[in-house]
Amino acid sequence: MRDPAEASDLLDWYDRHARDLPWRIRPQARAAGVTADPYRIWLSEIMLQQTTVAAVREYFRVFTERWPTVEDLAAAEDADVMAAWAGLGYYARARNLLKCARSVVADHGGQFPADHAELLKLPGVGPYTAAAVSAIAFDDAQVVVDGNVERVMARLHDEHTPLPEAKPILTAYAAALTPAQRPGDYAQAVMDLGATICTPKRPACGLCPWRTSCAAWAEGTAAELPKKTPK
Ligand code: ADE
Repeated sequence: MRDPAEASDLLDWYDRHARDLPWRIRPQARAAGVTADPYRIWLSEIMLQQTTVAAVREYFRVFTERWPTVEDLAAAEDADVMAAWAGLGYYARARNLLKCARSVVADHGGQFPADHAELLKLPGVGPYTAAAVSAIAFDDAQVVVDGNVERVMARLHDEHTPLPEAKPILTAYAAALTPAQRPGDYAQAVMDLGATICTPKRPACGLCPWRTSCAAWAEGTAAELPKKTPK
């Protein structure tokens, strides 16, 4: 299958504008053959589940300094990990983090499984996290859809069906755009686009690499999408 032109437009933009994030392998380094450490990708994705990038940075630094490998984390005292997690909230994540690290060591020889279905069986790993880890850590062409991606897809297609009804439609749009080449960079590029350009309020459409293919840009509707069913 030919990769969609939109994907390469976005990847070109990402090559120039990727955010520098402590768990991220920069696109130039990736192109030179540097591979992601699945442990660091998994840890970042668990921390990012209900927490902003800004808040996660420092916790990620502390965790990876203190427990640089999944074996180190698996061997940690529960109380030490819970104390290090303090402030990030949603403490079930920290309990599952330890369970998951111990399962990777005990059941998978210390290697995170690359397969989406196997990842899904790990404690604390839901469909989004499994897709993100397989795409970012293993360059598997998984469709990674979070709130940012839903917003970007709703605008790109000028989709006015309200959330949550629109979810399957937006996921299908995301699937059609996910390229076979560089799916990990692509997943992170859509996240960056949603975080820095295609923002919920006052999107910076003038800077957007997808402007010319964006239906909401053509219609002037970007800022009002996605629609939401009133609670
Ligand atoms: N939000 C969830 N996962 C992310 C990632 N890998 N990079 C930036 N933001 C994210």
